[in-house]
Amino acid sequence: MKVQFTETVLRDANQSLIATRLPFSDFEGILETMDKAGYYSLECWGGATFDSCLRYLDEDPWERLRKIKAKCPNTKLQMLLRGQNILGYKHYPDDVVRMFIRKSVENGIDIIRIFDALNDVRNIEVAVDETIKCGAIASGAISYTKSPIHNLESYVELAKKMEAMGCQSICIKDMAGIMGPQEAYDTVKALKENVKVPIILHTHSTTGLGLLTLQKAVEAGVDVIDTAISAFSGGTAQPPTETLVYALKQQGYDIDLDEKVLKEINDYFKPIRAKFLESGQLNPLVLATDTDALTYQIPGGMLSNLVAQLTAQKKLDKLPEVLAETPRVREDLGYPPLVTPMSQMVGVQATANVLAGERYKNISKEVKAYIRGEYGRAPGELNADLQKKVLGDEKPLTCRFADTLEPGFEKAKAEIGDLAKSDEDVLSYIAFPTQAEAFFKKREERKKNTFTYSIKRVD
Ligand code: CO
Repeated sequence: MKVQFTETVLRDANQSLIATRLPFSDFEGILETMDKAGYYSLECWGGATFDSCLRYLDEDPWERLRKIKAKCPNTKLQMLLRGQNILGYKHYPDDVVRMFIRKSVENGIDIIRIFDALNDVRNIEVAVDETIKCGAIASGAISYTKSPIHNLESYVELAKKMEAMGCQSICIKDMAGIMGPQEAYDTVKALKENVKVPIILHTHSTTGLGLLTLQKAVEAGVDVIDTAISAFSGGTAQPPTETLVYALKQQGYDIDLDEKVLKEINDYFKPIRAKFLESGQLNPLVLATDTDALTYQIPGGMLSNLVAQLTAQKKLDKLPEVLAETPRVREDLGYPPLVTPMSQMVGVQATANVLAGERYKNISKEVKAYIRGEYGRAPGELNADLQKKVLGDEKPLTCRFADTLEPGFEKAKAEIGDLAKSDEDVLSYIAFPTQAEAFFKKREERKKNTFTYSIKRVD
C-alpha cells in the first residue's frame, strides 16, 4: 500500500516553531533538492506566511511563491486557506476570495487546502468552486475537534458534503494535536468507507501522540500524511518525516521518498535550527512534549493563553475555576472547534465570567458577533438564554455573512492607488492593509535609493 507525504517545514513547522520567521534566503538553497525528494506536496504558502512576509521579513509574499515555484517545478506546491477568511479571521466578499485564489494559482499554487473554523461548508464553497475553475486541486479540510456533538457520523457527513462540492481530497485537520491513535484509525476508516477521494491526515506533535496517530491512520488506509523534516519536527510542529519513512518502509508500505535526499534536506536545516535556537526565536519548550492538553481536553496553545491572561491580571489562583468554566462556555456556544479564533473567544469569555463573579455579565464583542451568526453556523445549539440576552428581538443571520458584503476588490484598488503595482499588491493590501502599505512604501524607498546609469560603449 502506498503512503504519500506532504512536507510542512516551509509553512506549518515554520509557523508552529518559529512564528513563521523563516526568510526566503534561509531555504532558497535547498529548494531544488526538496523538489527531488519525492514528496506528494510541499506546504509552503498561506496560513501565517503571507502576513509574516509583509510584517517582519520585508518580503513580497507573491514574489516568494514565484521564486519557490521556479526552483520546484516538479512538486505540487500547497497552501492553506481559511475559506471565506482567506488568511485572516474576518470574512471577505466573494470577488476578493475568487481573485485571491486565481492569483495564487497563477503564481504557482497547485493545491489549496480549504477549511472553516466552524466547519460551516457555506464558508468554503466559493473558495472550492474557484480553485476548481482555476484548474488547481481543492482539498477540503475538516477542523477536527472533540465534543458531545462531534462524532464519526458528523465527520462523514461533512466529508460527503465536501466531496459533493467537488473537493478532490479530504484532510482531517487536527490543528490542536488532540487526536489520539484510535480516533485517527476510526475517523480515517469511516471516511475511506464513505468517500472516494484521497484522505489526508494533518496533526501536531504537541502532546506526543503524533507518531502513534499517524501510524494508526496509515493502518486505516490514509493516503497522505503531513510531516516535517526532523530538524523542524516535533513539539508544536508535525511528526518527523524521516522517522515515518523509516518505520513505514520497514512495515512494507510503498513510499516514494528518497532517504538520501531527505538526509541532505535535514542536514541543510540543522544549522538554521541552531541559528533560531541561538537567537531565542526558537524556544526549546515548543519542541518538548506537553501532555496538559490531554488532561484538560483543550489545546495546548489555549491553555497557555489562559495562564498568560490570568497571570497578567494577577489572578492565576482562579485557573481551576476558569478551566471548569471553559467547557460550559463552549457548550453555550454550540461546541465550536477550539481553534483560532474560537479558542480565544471561548477562553476570554470563560475568564470574564469567572473574574466578574457572574456569567455573561460582560460579553465580548466577538462572542456577540458569533451569536449573531457573523462567523457562520454554530455546530450545535446555542444556549437560548444567552442568545436572547445578546440578540433581544434581533434575528440571527441565516445567510452567509459574506452575502451581506459589497464587492471589495475594485474599491481597495482605488484606495491604495499607485502604491500597488499589480493585482497581487491589491490583494496583499486587502488581506493586511497596514502591513502591506508599509511594505509598499519601503519598496518605493529602495527603488529611489537605487541609481541607474547608462553605459557608453567604448569598444
Ligand atoms: Co497545523
